[in-house]
Amino acid sequence: MNLDKAVNIDDMAVLARRYLPRIAFDFIDGGVDGEVGLARNREALDRYKLVPRYLIDVEKRSQETTLFGYAYSGPFGICPMGIAGFFRPGADLMLARAAAKFNVPYVMSSASCDSIETAMGEAPETTWFQIYGTRDPRITTDLIRRAKALNVRVLMLTIDTPVMAKRERNMRNGFRRPMKMTPSVILQGLSRPAWTFRYLAKGGIPMMENWRPYAAQGASANDVADLYGTETPAPAQTWDVLKLVRKAWPGPLAVKGVLHPDDALTCMEMGADGLVISNHGGRQLDSAPASMDMLPIIADAVGHRVELLIDSGFRRGADVAKALCLGAKAALFGRPAMFSVAAAGEAGACKMLDIIRQEISLVMGQMGWTDVSCAGPHCLLDLANPPPVSPKPIIQHRASA
Ligand SMILES: Cc1cc2nc3c(=O)[nH]c(=O)nc-3n(C[C@H](O)[C@H](O)[C@H](O)COP(=O)(O)O)c2cc1C
Repeated sequence: MNLDKAVNIDDMAVLARRYLPRIAFDFIDGGVDGEVGLARNREALDRYKLVPRYLIDVEKRSQETTLFGYAYSGPFGICPMGIAGFFRPGADLMLARAAAKFNVPYVMSSASCDSIETAMGEAPETTWFQIYGTRDPRITTDLIRRAKALNVRVLMLTIDTPVMAKRERNMRNGFRRPMKMTPSVILQGLSRPAWTFRYLAKGGIPMMENWRPYAAQGASANDVADLYGTETPAPAQTWDVLKLVRKAWPGPLAVKGVLHPDDALTCMEMGADGLVISNHGGRQLDSAPASMDMLPIIADAVGHRVELLIDSGFRRGADVAKALCLGAKAALFGRPAMFSVAAAGEAGACKMLDIIRQEISLVMGQMGWTDVSCAGPHCLLDLANPPPVSPKPIIQHRASA
């Protein structure tokens, strides 16, 4: 199969598996501990059923969505993901450009390989910026200063990583820095020559450009990665970090990694404009609930006072539609974007976004939705937790009827 033959998101993972050595593929694909959280994310999304309505004029369907006051072409975007450049040199900028072409948000991770300055130069209207609280708060403040100077539209603070998770695939595969050239690693490299060639041609481990300014002058990529590893995670951080970020950042602020409704309320009370309901794609706490299961509870707690985004396990346009029904404004895609850009560069990222956009459009047609505001709990069936009967059924009469 090549890119042209890929018809869905799972195909992009197949392409990535063929391109990446196992050690790299598993880094993206893996969860934590026994990886039950990965299955739980899918189970929660699949449990909901979308109940279609027919004989509604759906010739024209608009996915247009406003997020934090800015218009985007669809209710989806790309999650922040660190070290994309390890999987394909320049991958961060490829994702940024692809998102700009589709006019959907791409959240650049502060742990990316390309810098926020370069990404904003290429895609100023669709690039958002994600940070973690750092042990030295001056770094957090300076990252925000840079984002402010660049007029980044939205800042995202990720709070769900107080400690490093136990990523068992990485432990088994020997994913570590500096990479030990064990016979297994060498064999994997030889079996994926295209990836290995690109990796070696760029000089091996890529520089985390956002962090370069905080390391000593002339620091190597490894030195900078070491600094990053010392500064994050910052296990002693408390809600003070949100206070600091809110004070330093005047624009729209989203807090990512929220699962508990009390945390959602605290974020809101402390001035967050949005939340990303997320279990980090099953990469932090394996026993955490699916974000889809927490969405209605959090939506109920916060009302419409903050914008809700969601991620973790989204693979289909129908998944996005279900999240919209439960009160999210948009869903973000993580691994699908990383697999696509790794396997096929910017064209791969565009293909992935196109698949999602088309799937959402088809689901909207089936559901009788002319725009995203048609979504609501009345469109969903969850036999385990039946939703309230629609207060406002969608019944559209043609003008001539
Ligand atoms: C390779 C990889 C790197 C990630 N790096 C970050 C990061 O730097 N910051 C962050 O907030 N989340 C990070 N995440 C989590 C994603 O933002 C997102 O929450 C998760 O991937 C969503 O689940 P999905 O992959 O099932 O779509 C990373 C995820 C992956 C797969």
